[in-house]
Amino acid sequence: MFSKKPAPTIDSNRIPAHIAIIMDGNGRWAKKRLLPRIAGHKQGMENVKVITKAASRMGVKALTLYAFSTENWKRPNDEVGYLMRLPVDFFDAFMPELIEENVRVHVMGYLDDLPEATKKAALKAMADTAQNTGMILNFALNYGSRSEILDAARQLAQDVQAGTITTDQIDEAHFDAALMTAPLGELADPDLVIRTSGEERISNFLLWQMAYSELVFTDALWPDFTPEQLDQAVLEYQARDRRFGGLK
Ligand code: IPE
Ligand code: IPE
Ligand code: MG
Repeated sequence: MFSKKPAPTIDSNRIPAHIAIIMDGNGRWAKKRLLPRIAGHKQGMENVKVITKAASRMGVKALTLYAFSTENWKRPNDEVGYLMRLPVDFFDAFMPELIEENVRVHVMGYLDDLPEATKKAALKAMADTAQNTGMILNFALNYGSRSEILDAARQLAQDVQAGTITTDQIDEAHFDAALMTAPLGELADPDLVIRTSGEERISNFLLWQMAYSELVFTDALWPDFTPEQLDQAVLEYQARDRRFGGLK
């Protein structure tokens, strides 16, 4: 009969070390089912568990998930309230598995502006997994990249004022160290950024860190995004030619 070309398989030597995902489309997922938007967020949370395990088993070293932006406060109070409750439920339910998977949780964002219970859940998750040595699961929660960059600029200006550095000494390494991704060290810049739901924009996410990331946009709504689609995105990443401005 016909000879079928074998499906490409993932090259385990070239797994993107840091994948960042803009988890979009929860509201539309719910709307399609005539459910309230919060039902989409609940299902989105369930999918965080699925994709976290898939990424960890694939050998990803850091997975950053955009969970709540500094602009998301514009949404109705009840939706924001629900979104603030989700981290509490998520860490409560998922902590044993995170520990079993050896995943280390990090949460970056303006944590002081979160409701007390949300902030507490985030800090506890970081403390409870601090000894884990596997994949870093980095949540962007009340995160906004422009504010992050402004804060870094302010901090460096203060360092200059205090005399600990001179303006000439401000370089990329100093800037990296002043950003919220600094705890990720050499993994700070995502190799692959995925956005679900068909929107093709960045929405104030990792503007500095994304300078040379590969971008993959998929139509799948976040609650529908599967480990197979994650594999697909990684295959697409592996088919790209990353030149970083140079030549092949
Ligand atoms: C992503 O889903 C989750 C958050 C931004 C908190 P949305 O809630 O943005 O879903 P859509 O874009 O309305 O479908
Ligand atoms: C981006 O999604 C933020 C998160 C996924 C947390 P939004 O749904 O808030 O982005 P816009 O409004 O479509 O740009
Ligand atoms: Mg959205």
